[in-house]
Amino acid sequence: MRIFLFAAALLPLSAFAAGPATPPAAFAQCAACHSVTGSNGVGPSLKGVIGRKVGSYPGFRYSRAMKTLGKSWDKSLLSAYLANPQQTIPGNVMPFAGVPDAGQRTAIIAYLATLK
Ligand code: HEC
Repeated sequence: MRIFLFAAALLPLSAFAAGPATPPAAFAQCAACHSVTGSNGVGPSLKGVIGRKVGSYPGFRYSRAMKTLGKSWDKSLLSAYLANPQQTIPGNVMPFAGVPDAGQRTAIIAYLATLK
């Protein structure tokens, strides 16, 4: 009985370790519009966003500016876009002013890199 209880107590911990990374607090503002699981919301899913062509997630209606940019998301483009969405991709329609704090941007991008 004692051994059983011990194993039961460990189980949730190991399930957590094997699961997806915990989002940083700053990601809460993105999660209002973006899922990380593959479904689109107000914004496109951010699953696998790093390395993906800008404006290419299936089933999402992007602005012309996003669809025709012709670049792929890497860490430096994400950092520039999150710092100032309108200046980085003029004409995109993400209704979000940006994340001015560089540390928060780094935390968000590190988290996005774990989403495969
Ligand atoms: C109020 C809703 C909203 C919030 C908040 C928001 N976004 Fe967006 N996001 C959008 C929309 C809508 C688009 C599509 C823009 C377009 O088509 O021009 C978008 C596009 C994007 C894209 C381009 C994805 C692709 O498939 O090319 C990225 C990356 C992104 N957002 C990241 C973020 C991150 C990270 C945050 C939090 C710091 C955030 N967004 C906050 C609505 C939002």
